[in-house]
This record gives sequence, structure tokens and C-alpha cells, in this order.
Amino acid sequence: MNINDKLESTVFAIFGGTGDLAWRKLMPALFDLSRDRSLPVNFAIIVLGRSKITDDKLRYHLHEGVNQFSRRGMVQGEEWNQFARHIHYLQGDYQELQTYSTLADQCTKLEMEWGVKAQRIYYLATPPSMFGEISDCLGKAGLADDREQTRIVIEKPIGYDLSSAIALNSKLAETFDESQVFRIDHYLGKETVQNILAFRFANPLFEPIWNRRYVEYVTITVAEEVGVKNRGGYYDGAGALRDMVQNHLMQLLCLVAMEPMVSFDADEIRNKKVDVLHAVRPIHYDAVHQSVVRGQYGKGWIGGKEVCGYHGENGVAPDSQTETFVALKLFVDNWRWQDVPFYLRTGKRLTRQVSEVVIHFRAVPHQSFPPEASLDWKSSRLVMSIQPDEGIVLRFQAKHPGSKIHLRTVEMKFNYQETFACRSPDAYEALLWDVMKNDATLFMRADQIEAAWRLLMPVLEMWEVASPSDFPNYAAGTWGPEGAQGLLAQNGHSWPLPTELVHPAEPACEVHDLGEDGGVLKEGK
Ligand code: BG6
Repeated sequence: MNINDKLESTVFAIFGGTGDLAWRKLMPALFDLSRDRSLPVNFAIIVLGRSKITDDKLRYHLHEGVNQFSRRGMVQGEEWNQFARHIHYLQGDYQELQTYSTLADQCTKLEMEWGVKAQRIYYLATPPSMFGEISDCLGKAGLADDREQTRIVIEKPIGYDLSSAIALNSKLAETFDESQVFRIDHYLGKETVQNILAFRFANPLFEPIWNRRYVEYVTITVAEEVGVKNRGGYYDGAGALRDMVQNHLMQLLCLVAMEPMVSFDADEIRNKKVDVLHAVRPIHYDAVHQSVVRGQYGKGWIGGKEVCGYHGENGVAPDSQTETFVALKLFVDNWRWQDVPFYLRTGKRLTRQVSEVVIHFRAVPHQSFPPEASLDWKSSRLVMSIQPDEGIVLRFQAKHPGSKIHLRTVEMKFNYQETFACRSPDAYEALLWDVMKNDATLFMRADQIEAAWRLLMPVLEMWEVASPSDFPNYAAGTWGPEGAQGLLAQNGHSWPLPTELVHPAEPACEVHDLGEDGGVLKEGK
């Protein structure tokens, strides 16, 4: 195993470590970190679970997950064995203090072997309903006493609504200081999401135009082609607003709209992000229908295959009213963004998977070119492609070669894979590494979570009393309900089609004889 002797000795305890999250995400990420020499010399993973299994059986099971999900593909036996000897299994009931004292003993034993005190990370890969109780027990067992050396990691969903989020945050605060709590929103670990800050604040070029004077509107799309897969039970109780908007989309909004940070300090950045949430114009209960559109998919076609509607998915109630699509129009009431609409949308079973932020710039204040020169004029756009393509595209006008002046829309592209010649690490690699380094920049603070819930509560409350009358209202394989187009059309805006980053653009158009009409451009084959 590759090791790093500059990192602090670490015990990484995973509650619910025999489950899907550890199998698909945590263990492959830890393995990939080990390959990059990003784990300490003294490192142990204690997997906690209820099942009765041996260390060997657990390691075998985790090996399969790593083979499937490591970004390096299949892992050779010897390499796996070297990593796997750091994994230990601890069977126990999370409600019994005995489990925690056994964990404490194991940690002490490892520290004695290593001859140093280790930092302890408790990762709760359990259902959220157990977060409070586990946190309590960790406290009672004295496992959280050292504020510098212990951390707790939890994943969204953090609460089901504002009051449950406040209750959970208060419960955690009984045992842990806020600085010890790492709340994961895996979108923040994505390279392309982190790059939003680099792009905005490491270049003086765009910041001066990143405001209401130059930006007409912003669209943020997180579209999924997949349905609810095998998570129908969970999803049907959550819906798209809770599952995606409260967290991932709000985080993207914050990164796009925030003010420049003064330093790269975690709280400085998180303060700037929470300022955005505080500035979002509240959606009043009786205006929800004007600003928010919800949808649910019916059956349709994706990739040439017929797929069932939401009601046909496993674990979903046949008459479910849960939304699988949401589009919202928001305003950020501050000097920079006053009256610039931010349109957010997310949905399952849409035409294709694409996550992107698009900044739509205003038209030029005065058009000095002859009208026939700018027949296919389109406003300038900056596209930040988050996934599956990763990169940035700037669309602008250029003069088409030829004797007459004719403007044409062209694109400049930056593609991660081509530029850096490597695959971006999985979000969990970045996040787990940061937990070990005690860097909370990419994690959600309690006040951020609560501010995001506060904004969405009128929508949830309104939906609770006003059932949709038209579900399902979009066919799988489309871009969602018609209302989502209408939300933008009212202002003369439209959702952009996904920007192609990877596939080469169509061959340039040929210049035909530019006659008296100013010239006609024909698309090349
Ligand atoms: C999760 C949601 O947080 O994010 C899922 O619970 C969703 O419903 C997933 O599919 C999307 O993540 P990614 O990284 O695949 O875009």
C-alpha cells in the first residue's frame, strides 16, 4: 500500500459499513486514496455492522465493490491484500453502549501499537434516523471528548424539513462542537464544482462582468436519465425538492452567486455561501405556483428502450403524488444580482444526464452591425459543465470569414480530460481526504442547511395541501413538464440545450457566394 508519513495517524470507523454506501463509494475512495499515497502510515478502518461476519468475509465483499467502483478498475490481489489488512470488522448494536466501549478499546489498542494518539473519524453510513442516537452514544462512551482529534461525518438528507433539521443539528451539538461535524453534500466534492470558485476568483477576467449589469439570467440544470433505481422506498417519501434542490442545487447556486472570499478559510467561504441563501427572495406561500413547477414522469422511451412511469417503480405507491422533477425561479436580492432570475431545475428520467450552470449574458446595448450581418445572432453564454462532460464553454460572436461582414456564433472549449489527461477523482476521495485533513471548506454548516430548508418550506407546505392534479405530467425521456418551459418563457428566456463538450462540433459551415443579401451560410455536412 502507498502511504504518506506526513499524515496524522487515523482510525476511520464506519457505522453501517456493510451497506451500499461503503461498498460503492467509501471503500473505493479510500482504496484510491491509498494508491495516491494519501493515507497515513498508521491507518485503520473499523467497519461496524450488525451482521455476524468475519474480517475475511467482509474484506472479500468490499474487494468486489472496489473492483467495480474504483476509478482504477480491477484491483490486483496483492495490492488489495495490502490495503485490506487495515480493515477490521466490529459487530454490534448501535443502541448498546457496549458497542462503543468495544470501539474505544479497539482504538486504544491500535494507538498502543502505533505508539501515538490517532485522530478518530466516525462516519455514519446508516439511515439518517440513527444519526442522533449514534452521536449520543459516542458522547456517552467518551469517544467525542477530544475536540481536536475526533470528527463525525454524516450525509444528506440532513432533516426532512426545517424543524427536523434543527432538531438533528441540536442533537449533534449536544456531543460535538460544530467544528467537529462534517456534513457531506457529495456535489461539493466534484472537481468541476470546486472549479467554479477557481474559475471565478483565480481569474480577473470574469468577475467584473459577473453581475446584473452583464448577466441577464442564470440556469442551473441537474438532469438525470436514470429513474429511482432500487431507492423507490426512500425517494417516494422525499421527492426531488428534498432529494436534490435543498442540497445539491442550492450549493451550486451559492457557488455561482457568492461574493469573493477574502481567504481560503473554511468559515470564510461558508459565510459567503450562507449570505447568498440569506439574500434569496423568499417564495411566498401564495406565490409558489408562479415560481415553482413540479412534475412526475410517466412511461416513455430512453435510449431506444421503453421505460415504466414513476408509479411502476419498485417501492413507489401506485397513486404516489411525489414529484420527480422541480423547476424554480429564484432571485438573489443584493447589489450584484437584483432582479436577475436564477432558474434551477432537476429531474429524473429526463432526456439525458447533464449537470451544467449556464450564465446567459445580456445583448449588446447597441447593435452597430447591419441587421443582415447578425441574422443568427445569439447572446453570449458561459457554460460550466459539471457532468458527464467536464469543462467550460464560452459562446460568443465572431466574424465569419468572407468579404462581407457576417456574424456567427462560435465556441471556445476547455475540457478537463483533454487538458489534464486524467480522470477526475471521485467526489468522495476529495471529501474523505478533507475530513482527514480537518478541512471543512467543502462541508455544509448547520446554518447553511437550515437556511436552505427555510427557503423551501413554503413550497413544501403549499404542496402538502395542494395535490397536483396532472401527475404524471411528463413522459420519461423528455425535458420535463411544459410548465418548466413556461417559467422562463414569461421573461423571454429558455432552458439551454446541453452543451456538447466532448464530441467535436459540426464541421464549419461553408461560405457561399455572399451576394447582395449579405450572404447565406449553409451548414457543412
Ligand atoms: C443523490 C440523490 O444525492 O444524488 C440521488 O439522492 C441522485 O437521487 C444523486 O441520483 C445524483 O448524484 P450524481 O453524483 O450521480 O449526480
